Amino acid sequence: MRRKVIAGNWKMNMTPSQAKALIEETKPLVAGKDNCDIIFCVPFVDIYAAKEAAKGSNIKIGAENVHFAQKGAYTGEISAEMLKECGVEYVIVGHSERRQYFGETDETVNLRTKAALEAGMTVLLCLGEVKDERLNGITDEVVSMQTKLALKDITAEQLKNVIIAYEPVWAIGTGLTATPEQADETCGVIRNTIKSLYGEKAAEEIIIQYGGSMNASNAKELLAKENVDGGLIGGASLKAKDFSIIVDAAQ
Ligand code: 13P
Repeated sequence: MRRKVIAGNWKMNMTPSQAKALIEETKPLVAGKDNCDIIFCVPFVDIYAAKEAAKGSNIKIGAENVHFAQKGAYTGEISAEMLKECGVEYVIVGHSERRQYFGETDETVNLRTKAALEAGMTVLLCLGEVKDERLNGITDEVVSMQTKLALKDITAEQLKNVIIAYEPVWAIGTGLTATPEQADETCGVIRNTIKSLYGEKAAEEIIIQYGGSMNASNAKELLAKENVDGGLIGGASLKAKDFSIIVDAAQ
């Protein structure tokens, strides 16, 4: 039985004081809900305030990206070591918005994944097809290829600290959600890809989340599916009540 992981991706929302307020509001709503891991991935500048606010609770704090180099002339970037020292345990890598708007490629996603793993963080590795790929019937090939490229040279031991977030790009921020069947099927394709790369046990153990307009009303059905081990939640993670309903759905 895989443990469910419910993670919020705040994207470019919340100032440090707003972060503190949202976590204070969420804490009592999710207290004692220990049948799943609860994570907020927050903008870099919110990490300190978020860590402080989450202290002593079951909410863990993650970041939304990490650079692949240890240090150097990469203006505006943040290294794994910097995140580690701030107490960050999780980091999103390869989000479709990074791929779409900031030129991330399968190669940089792989490098960032490696850097985060080497620093001892858990990676929430995002992948998923765009609308045309689904319409053209090549979703399985796309997610399988993205999985393979993102995990290039990552060992079976390191894979234990990888969570995959299947996020169909057409479902992100659109209010369109994959049906539970679509989510289950494509998460299953990703699981099979893991099996071909790392074997049966690794495939059974890896946590695969669904993300894309998951909300308080559709979470339960999505999370009930065999291959869906959690959610990566954008918009609904910015509302304490909605987020806590999704956490409830994972209990
Ligand atoms: P929404 O839940 O707002 O669709 O965003 C999903 C997402 O991109 C999480 O990473």
